Amino acid sequence: MSVFGRVAVPLKSRSYDIVVGSGLLADTGKLLKDVISRPRTAVVTDANVADLYLADIAKSMNDSHIAFSEIILPPGEQTKSFDGLMELADQLLSARIERGDTIIALGGGVVGDLTGFAASILRRGVQIVQMPTSLLAQVDASIGGKTGINTSHGKNLIGTFHQPGLVIADVDVLDTLPPREFLAGYAEVVKYGLLGDVKFFEWLEENGAAMIAGDIDARKYAVLSCARAKAEIVADDEMEMGHRALLNLGHTFGHAIEAELGYDGRIVHGEAVAIGMVMAFELSHRLDLCSADDVARVRSHLHGVGLPVAPPSDYNWDVTKFIDHMRQDKKVQNDALTFVLAKGIGHGVVARDVPESQVIQLLEAKLA
Ligand code: GLY
Repeated sequence: MSVFGRVAVPLKSRSYDIVVGSGLLADTGKLLKDVISRPRTAVVTDANVADLYLADIAKSMNDSHIAFSEIILPPGEQTKSFDGLMELADQLLSARIERGDTIIALGGGVVGDLTGFAASILRRGVQIVQMPTSLLAQVDASIGGKTGINTSHGKNLIGTFHQPGLVIADVDVLDTLPPREFLAGYAEVVKYGLLGDVKFFEWLEENGAAMIAGDIDARKYAVLSCARAKAEIVADDEMEMGHRALLNLGHTFGHAIEAELGYDGRIVHGEAVAIGMVMAFELSHRLDLCSADDVARVRSHLHGVGLPVAPPSDYNWDVTKFIDHMRQDKKVQNDALTFVLAKGIGHGVVARDVPESQVIQLLEAKLA
């Protein structure tokens, strides 16, 4: 095991650490020892991740004398549903997971969000340890306690806040991600630079391509930097009453793109976020918050690494429907759309007073 860094998320009685490094999965048992109250857990994962990593984890748990049940879910977004939740809760109860036990979520965002939700309601709350295996989950979804499932009204509209007891981010597992999935997660990495850290964005301009190509040191540095940034925001605003909403940079536009396309895989979440971030900078420029040069830099970096920077042009977009999708956003308050905008690279701001006419003009230009 090689721990590259440990980030504390200071939340009083709900404080926890994020451990970033390589070779961590093979030492899961040792890492867990500090946070479990009895040597008994359930590992929840999906069939793809189980094939790759469950044997390593099982060995480490056995070496550390931690008993565990394995719960293997079908891979894919459809598992993150009421039916999937009932099935998982049933399996956790069958495994006799008690209130003082620990559930381990080993997987990407689907496994992490669903298992986090199940853990938060099982016997009124059981500890969860997040072991994220996608880049998106390592830099965002596994940190901060958001859990949830999808319904026909939209994604993640039902859920809870349930902070984990530990997050273990082993960058070695990123090697087995399909390139498109890695790149989609990379959009969320860029997000941290754009919303709060121009130096990190500059580092990505220099090193992002190497990180994507597999440079392990660059991966460790980037994942740790994002974990630090997210920990700081969550520590200040755990329940998203204020500036935690900055983490949704690109998401208002992005969610509308995904929803309109019916989540059919043409554009995956991180790609939609990349497009949405460019649109957020374009809107910021229209509102005189940032320069045309900032917009060009953001677009050029995302495009340069291979991410899309505009909604697909071979689709018949409708501005009214697009705005309707944006209204289902969780940030909507008193029916008013909320945007995360930027006063330049590294200076995200939450704006609740954007004139709808400006949004319509941008959408008419982008969706034509
Ligand atoms: N993924 C956004 C947040 O955790 O607040």
